[in-house]
Amino acid sequence: MTADTPPVVVRSRDELRDARAALTHGDVAVVMTMGALHDGHATLIRTARRTHAHVVVTIFLNPLQFGPAEDLSRYPRTFDDDLAICTEAGVDLVFAPTPDVIYPDGDPGVRVSAGPLGAVLEGQSRPGHFDGMLTVVGKLMHLTGATSAYFGQKDAQQLILIRRMCRDLDFPVQVVAVPTVREPDGLAMSSRNRYLGESDREVALCLSRGLRAGAAAAPEGPSAIRRAARAVLVREPLALIDYLVLVDPETLADVPEWFRGEALLAVAGRVGTTRLIDNLPVLVGPGGGALDVFSRP
Ligand code: PAJ
Repeated sequence: MTADTPPVVVRSRDELRDARAALTHGDVAVVMTMGALHDGHATLIRTARRTHAHVVVTIFLNPLQFGPAEDLSRYPRTFDDDLAICTEAGVDLVFAPTPDVIYPDGDPGVRVSAGPLGAVLEGQSRPGHFDGMLTVVGKLMHLTGATSAYFGQKDAQQLILIRRMCRDLDFPVQVVAVPTVREPDGLAMSSRNRYLGESDREVALCLSRGLRAGAAAAPEGPSAIRRAARAVLVREPLALIDYLVLVDPETLADVPEWFRGEALLAVAGRVGTTRLIDNLPVLVGPGGGALDVFSRP
């Protein structure tokens, strides 16, 4: 598929099966999204394009991963703009189903369980979120028949859980991590950034600043990293911090003071009415600092 040729858009399972069967020039990668695409999503697509003959993008606002008090109804819907981004990034096929296509019998009784890793950090304030996310990711892997799937480091816990699902449940899909794409001032790109007013946006910058300050202290060890990041965050009282953690990327448990190696520095907080998350993979110890992604898949 060359850039500027619009992708084929399909909405039903039958249409997807037929369009998918026509992608015969090589392997297929999938980039799953909930729409409201930005350059973070486009980077995932472009990265997949570099090594795969075909790229399928799914655009599906998955009700199963939203809690009753969350932002499903006000989540931005920008389908025409999304399609323009897919066209420019060279997507072959867009699968944009409605919930009744994905869940024809209503909410599924059988779901993927994220287990203990899904109960901490984001899972603590969003009960059921990761079960709903993994359930749809599993279904979309089956439906698209992709051999590789690209996910952003931005949603680190999501990425870790998807990797675990593929490993633990033998999904034959290679999961590829793509570094977080940021605005020039450091703010991690997110569909939810559209909710931020100008002053909120300024406040939100403390998250990435805090992470950078933490990573700069990486040679000194875990408590120095946490202290440096917290020092930045406390200077911004309008950001209501939910957690700031330095954890083992395998277990999501806090790393002890003697820890040296790759750890995840992650933060979540509320700015106005918008919940934001950000993280940096960090190499802890002499010569350490921020990483783009973890070296071990
Ligand atoms: P969504 O938030 O639309 O994100 C889709 C993909 O884009 C995810 O892999 C996410 O990590 C990645 N992404 C978002 N912002 C990014 C950024 N600034 N830099 C790099 N990658 C970024 O995540 C979801 O949708 C859903 O949970 C989904 C996996 C589609 C399942 O419903």
